[in-house]
Amino acid sequence: MLSDLFEHNRRWADEKRRDDPDYFRKLAGLQRPEYLWIGCSDSRVPANVITGLEPGEVFVHRNVANLVHRADVNLLSVLEFAVETLEVKHVIVCGHYGCGGVRAAMDGNRHGVIDHWLQPIRDIADGCGEFLPGEDDRERRLDRICEINVQAQVAGLARTPIIQSAWKRGRAIAIHGWIYGLDDGLLRNLECSASGPGDAVKAGRCSCHCIDKGQ
Ligand code: CO
Repeated sequence: MLSDLFEHNRRWADEKRRDDPDYFRKLAGLQRPEYLWIGCSDSRVPANVITGLEPGEVFVHRNVANLVHRADVNLLSVLEFAVETLEVKHVIVCGHYGCGGVRAAMDGNRHGVIDHWLQPIRDIADGCGEFLPGEDDRERRLDRICEINVQAQVAGLARTPIIQSAWKRGRAIAIHGWIYGLDDGLLRNLECSASGPGDAVKAGRCSCHCIDKGQ
C-alpha cells in the first residue's frame, strides 16, 4: 500500500534524527559524493543498499541494462555534473547477472522501443560471436554478454569528451566495471578500470580476447 511508504519514510526520518539531530541539515547543505554509479534499473540492484552507502555518498544514474549511449543527453548531463561540479573520483558501471535487458536483447523477439535501446548489446554479442559460450549453454552465454556489456560501457565512457577532457586537465577520475550476482548478493570487479587516456583503448578490449584472436 502506498500509505506504507509514507509510514516507513516517517519512521526512517525519525530514526535518523534520533541518531543525529543535525543529520538532515548537514545533508541538505552539502552534496559531495565520491562515486557516480551507472547501473541497471532492475529493482533488485539498488546502488546504496548493496554498497552500504548512505544518502549523499553516491550519485546515481540507472537505465535498462546499464548502457552508455553516446547521444544520451540524460546520462551525459549526469556525467558532466558528476565530473565537473561534484568532482567524483570514481565512476562505476555496474551490471548484473541475469539482466532482463540483456536477455531481451538476445531472445530474438520484438518487444517495442526497448529493442532500439538494447541494440548495442546485440552489436557487442555479434562482435564477440564465436568466442562466447554456445547456444547450448544459454545461461552462461548470457552471463558472459552481461560481463562484456559492462566492459564495453566502461570503454565507451572513457572515450566521451567529458572524461577525455577531465583527464587532459589532470583530473584523477577512474572508471570501473563491476558485476553483481542476484543469487549471492555479491559484487565482482571485472578488472577493466580506466584512469587515463591510455586505458581507454585497453578497456575497450573485450575480455574474450576476440581482438587478440584476430576478429
Ligand atoms: Co538488468
